[in-house]
Amino acid sequence: MNDWSQALSHGTKAERRDGGTFSGNRGLQIEEGLLFEQDASGRCGVDLPEPPAHADRLGSARRRGPIGLPGLSEPQVIRHFTRLSQKNYAIDSGLYPLGSCTMKHNPRLNEKMARLPGFGDVHPLQPVSTVQGAFELIDTLAHWLKTLTGMPAVAMSPAAGAHGELCGLMSIRAALEARKETRHKVLVPESAHGTNPATAAACGFAVEAIPADARGRVDLAALKAKLGPDVAALMLTNPNTCGLFESEIIEIAKAVHEAGAYFYCDGANFNAIVGRVRPADLGVDCMHINLHKTFSTPHGGGGPGSGPVVLAESLAPYAPLPWVVHGKKGFEILEHKKGAAKKAFGRLKGNHGQMGMFVRALSYMMSHGSDGLRQVASDAVLNANYILAELGKDMSPAFPGPCMHEALFDDHFLKDTGVATLDFAKALIDEGYHPMTMYFPLVVHGALLIEPTETESKDSLDHFIAVLKALAKRAKSGDADYFHGAPYLTPRRRLDETAAARKPILRWRPEEVKEAAE
Ligand SMILES: Cc1ncc(COP(=O)(O)O)c(C=O)c1O
Repeated sequence: MNDWSQALSHGTKAERRDGGTFSGNRGLQIEEGLLFEQDASGRCGVDLPEPPAHADRLGSARRRGPIGLPGLSEPQVIRHFTRLSQKNYAIDSGLYPLGSCTMKHNPRLNEKMARLPGFGDVHPLQPVSTVQGAFELIDTLAHWLKTLTGMPAVAMSPAAGAHGELCGLMSIRAALEARKETRHKVLVPESAHGTNPATAAACGFAVEAIPADARGRVDLAALKAKLGPDVAALMLTNPNTCGLFESEIIEIAKAVHEAGAYFYCDGANFNAIVGRVRPADLGVDCMHINLHKTFSTPHGGGGPGSGPVVLAESLAPYAPLPWVVHGKKGFEILEHKKGAAKKAFGRLKGNHGQMGMFVRALSYMMSHGSDGLRQVASDAVLNANYILAELGKDMSPAFPGPCMHEALFDDHFLKDTGVATLDFAKALIDEGYHPMTMYFPLVVHGALLIEPTETESKDSLDHFIAVLKALAKRAKSGDADYFHGAPYLTPRRRLDETAAARKPILRWRPEEVKEAAE
């Protein structure tokens, strides 16, 4: 039996909500309680026969009270989760302008390939002779990554960009130990993603910040002043998180190498240069690649991710186990620190990495071809520059263009309006867009970082630009109150983000619900 009355709210509770309707619903957006609140005792999704009488063998371990699961019908559960999924804004719903996070369209062909039983059902502990096809796929993907970056080796197992950073720094540490050198500092530009300093610190290095210059690039003189015999590595993102190509990168690499340090490149933004620039030619010693950002594997929701790390000759021997190698009878795996893999720094993950992501990434590469990947980078850069140019007069670009794959604005255009970056971004939600990245990178005041990606059409960009122009005009017209109240049309309005971070309620308990309602 299905009972709407349990799911839907009405009466006094609803009147307290902002919807303005009797039910609290807005159009087809249903306002409903948690499944636990919808509980009706005795209701069940299945009709099981009474079990035959049996002897009680549990003794004192027998359950004394009810199990605490809600009584629900099958349609109630299906509708609840379907409605929840519809509340989730996604790249499949519309333009997703988050900068630095690259919410890129995931072609459905990739999904089809990843679900082929030979890939989808493969088990990491199967005998090697039965998974030669899977190893061939890993080897082919490794070949593409090495070719596109110009690097001779790649570690495939890291499960995210940040995990790749860890892999890179652990390889560097192993190489330094082999050189019998104790270098304890890692230099990280101020504009870096938070994972860079966090990884270096987690690896036991002291982190020192390098300032940005007025052009949003690494201040070369400041970098040179910090380089010395105690520096293990520079971690530099290119293109950087201001969406700019580090134009002095060759000189930077030279200075790092002259100081005896390694050049780690955060390759999360490789989607802006893939097929156009090979990091090896820039002097990079190792670099992680976020497959989800460059090669269209799904992103968000906590994974599974994939962040392979390409390595120069000097770091390749230290790559983590297991290694997939060409043997006499096909592919073999080196699982232990001996023979060719005797210098490996150890193991980062149980097995070879995220197979499903490998299939999706290779499917993307092969369906685009090398010329297509080059086009992807060009289109991503073109789209970002279109946004930067079109909004240049209405909003305030943080640095003069051109930019790479993302357009960065500061909050100068909101000066004296009473509208903050947060208010502006919240108002965008009512217009049907997920907000852009806010307040990052930290080197820019009130930053608004927009990455359209390559698949947005000119029409789609024009609509987004028109909305931003209208919002900027409204902010400048003195209508700050409107922005302070936004968003108006969402199932929930502004949440107390501090309380959510400091006092998160992660588990439903009847008392907490009662308290929250009071
Ligand atoms: C520049 C940069 N570096 C590192 C990362 C970390 O990657 P992941 O989220 O896969 O750990 C990101 C993530 O978006 C990033 O933008």
